[in-house]
Amino acid sequence: MPKSFFYPLLEDPYRKKDLSRAIEVIKTGKLTIGKHTKKFENKFTKTIKTKFSLMVNSGSSANLLAMQCLINPYRKKRLKKGDSVLIPTVCWSTSLWPIIQSGLKPVFVDIDPVTLNIDIKDLIKKINKKTKALMLVHVLGNSTNMDQLMKIIKKKNIILIEDTCESLGSRYKNKFLGTFGEFSSFSFYSSHQISSGEGGMITCRNLEDYEILKALRAHGWSRGLKNEKRISNKNKHLDSRFIFFNSGFNLRPTDISASIGLSQFNDMKSFISLRNKNRNFIVNSLKKSKIINDNFYFIEANENVKPSWFGIPIYIKNKNNRKKIIKNLEKRGIETRPIISGNFIKQPSVKKYKLLKGSKFYNSDIVNDRGFFIGLPTKKINNIFVNKIVKTFEQSI
Ligand SMILES: Cc1ncc(COP(=O)(O)O)c(C=O)c1O
Repeated sequence: MPKSFFYPLLEDPYRKKDLSRAIEVIKTGKLTIGKHTKKFENKFTKTIKTKFSLMVNSGSSANLLAMQCLINPYRKKRLKKGDSVLIPTVCWSTSLWPIIQSGLKPVFVDIDPVTLNIDIKDLIKKINKKTKALMLVHVLGNSTNMDQLMKIIKKKNIILIEDTCESLGSRYKNKFLGTFGEFSSFSFYSSHQISSGEGGMITCRNLEDYEILKALRAHGWSRGLKNEKRISNKNKHLDSRFIFFNSGFNLRPTDISASIGLSQFNDMKSFISLRNKNRNFIVNSLKKSKIINDNFYFIEANENVKPSWFGIPIYIKNKNNRKKIIKNLEKRGIETRPIISGNFIKQPSVKKYKLLKGSKFYNSDIVNDRGFFIGLPTKKINNIFVNKIVKTFEQSI
């Protein structure tokens, strides 16, 4: 193995200026949620053109809050125990589990192997009277046909939650992914389009939901809510500073994370553009090789999608070669991983919780058996580096 060559899945994403911001916050001694969080939330709302944004400590927490808000007794239109929520089988663990943790029933939908995103034909088949919501996952910066999807959602009165944890900055017909649904989640874990160490954002469209999410994020506390005064007046027997008006978690971010997240978010446009340039440079160079073309297939952006790529998703044409190719790539310095986690229904946790009875998801199996992705450099790359990638791919076959 040429030891000098290493192409990681995950680079150190922080610049000096991101860390300086964090150090400034640390120096103030005010580390818990505060003014930097608020600033980041406001900027996020304005930039992606959503209505309300609330920073949380991870994308997983954002998904949990969305599902918990949907069943909350303060919500007028809420879901009942056992209501069905559609979800694609190519999803992340915490796209799925908040559905179950909220007493709802996940119904799996197959994906379209060309886009990696939900298969609308299968989605239509899975809708019935119990279907109340869809947890849509925008995979690796790509998206399904949102025009078609929104028509179905509206017609069937289905609540849309967009798990946009892998797709911050991607657009469908110029509209940011994460602005179609009633709720959207974003992740700023280190490897995503922007990073804040750990961190995430939940966005929603109306004040009622925003106030519920805010309470759920912080212990169910009335503190900082729009109706804080009214709640306090109704509860004169209590210390007005300590009123727990809802159920709750503690999913708050630190102001340190918020300051790093905001510093990166300010430069999101240039990050996306550089990542897209790097992606095209690498993929176009790989495609020029006949042997690579004969053995691999590269996932492209869906029609009308302006992607903000997360990684570089690839299929191995002959699935019997998968083990050998992955082993060879890794041995020669190219890190790989499954596309999200492959077909999630194959995970032991799904069996343990008996979430499925004998259904087959043929397209998700394609992703599982043939798909993998490699990292996407966040810094400028040169010919020497890209040539090494091409050589390594050729040698992996
Ligand atoms: C689709 C999807 N949803 C949710 C998450 C969870 O985000 P986090 O790691 O911030 O909890 C991830 C993580 O990468 C993800 O890929």
